[in-house]
Amino acid sequence: MCVVTFDWEENDAGEKVRRFRKKKSLVWAVIEVTNSCNLNCIWCYANSGNKAKIRREHMGLAELKKLVGMLKDSGLNQITYSGGEPTVYPRIREAVKIAKDNDFVVHMNTNGFVLTRGFARELKSLGLSQIQTNIDSVDPKKHDYLRGREGSFYRAVSALKNARKIGITCVSQTVLTKENETETVGIFELARSLGLQRCRVWDMMPSSGCALENFDIRPTNYIESLRKLTKFAEGTGGKHIESGEPFFPLDFETSLRVSHIPCVASHGVLVNFAYNGDVYYCVTQRKPMFNVFSDVEGGFEEFYMVKLREFLKKAKLNPGCTECELFDKCGGGCYTRRSYSSERTDYWCPRVLNRQPQGASPDVSHSPA
Ligand SMILES: C[S@@+](CC[C@H](N)C(=O)[O-])C[C@H]1O[C@@H](n2cnc3c(N)ncnc32)[C@H](O)[C@@H]1O
Repeated sequence: MCVVTFDWEENDAGEKVRRFRKKKSLVWAVIEVTNSCNLNCIWCYANSGNKAKIRREHMGLAELKKLVGMLKDSGLNQITYSGGEPTVYPRIREAVKIAKDNDFVVHMNTNGFVLTRGFARELKSLGLSQIQTNIDSVDPKKHDYLRGREGSFYRAVSALKNARKIGITCVSQTVLTKENETETVGIFELARSLGLQRCRVWDMMPSSGCALENFDIRPTNYIESLRKLTKFAEGTGGKHIESGEPFFPLDFETSLRVSHIPCVASHGVLVNFAYNGDVYYCVTQRKPMFNVFSDVEGGFEEFYMVKLREFLKKAKLNPGCTECELFDKCGGGCYTRRSYSSERTDYWCPRVLNRQPQGASPDVSHSPA
């Protein structure tokens, strides 16, 4: 996902990028420890809340230990637990401890629904240092509708308050859709009023399951929303933007410091694992590249880089992209967005957007590659 994070405070987030620039190899892993979830989000790429289609499965603790060991041997330094919902993973306490004992920085993507102050304190004492939690609207009803469960707005806000109070770094996340794109500044204001120094946003991505079925709620212009948020950050003492969006900032001047890695997946900064060891190019690409428990030969990192190169070689690009003057900066845009466009072009590319009538939605064929 092409994530953009706005920071109002200096923090160690830039460390990941600096480390990558030095090492030029994987620094960070996202591990989906379970596919089970207590919400039912309208856009979930993992389809996790779909009880009819998803059988609840968790990663075994022995497998998790093995995986963390492999990642340590490969020199990674950050693990983000995700899912499904990691707080419903029965071994989450051990999972945090195992990662911390192996010297990883430990973060978690959580909807916050069950993150009480006591639970947050326990996880912090075991090594958790940051949570990322969605605020998808300032209107509790709309947030709950997008997240598929009543009460999820208040639980998310209360989790962020709880975690922040005990010294966990809290990041607000927003999946941009047609439903909330006019209120993103309001969402950032709300997050800032909760004392949050990091606010993150990205666009709803085409993927599989309900992310595809409900794809008509994708936003109308992600890049324009990012411009508005940048103005907001500039006017409120923002310090830094970490952009993983190929098209932002491209032709946009800002007084904020910007770290720009246009796609952490294709650059080999980040690796994603499902609960069963399947390895994804990006969390939105649910067709695995390989399985870490059954396929790896030799060292994990070397194997991963070979598979990544093979994957990228097959990635289809509109021939016009390589001749475009933007190509050096955007690399052809996001693989996932490209694979859903009939022309194999990223629908947020300014060249593509300029061809569309004002206010029109991006052109998507809804036919995954
Ligand atoms: C699948 S959830 C797993 C972790 C946890 N349950 C949570 O709510 O954060 C991870 C996050 O990915 C994002 N996400 C899921 N599906 C998406 C999609 N189709 N497009 C963009 N972001 C998506 C949401 O921010 C979601 O909170």
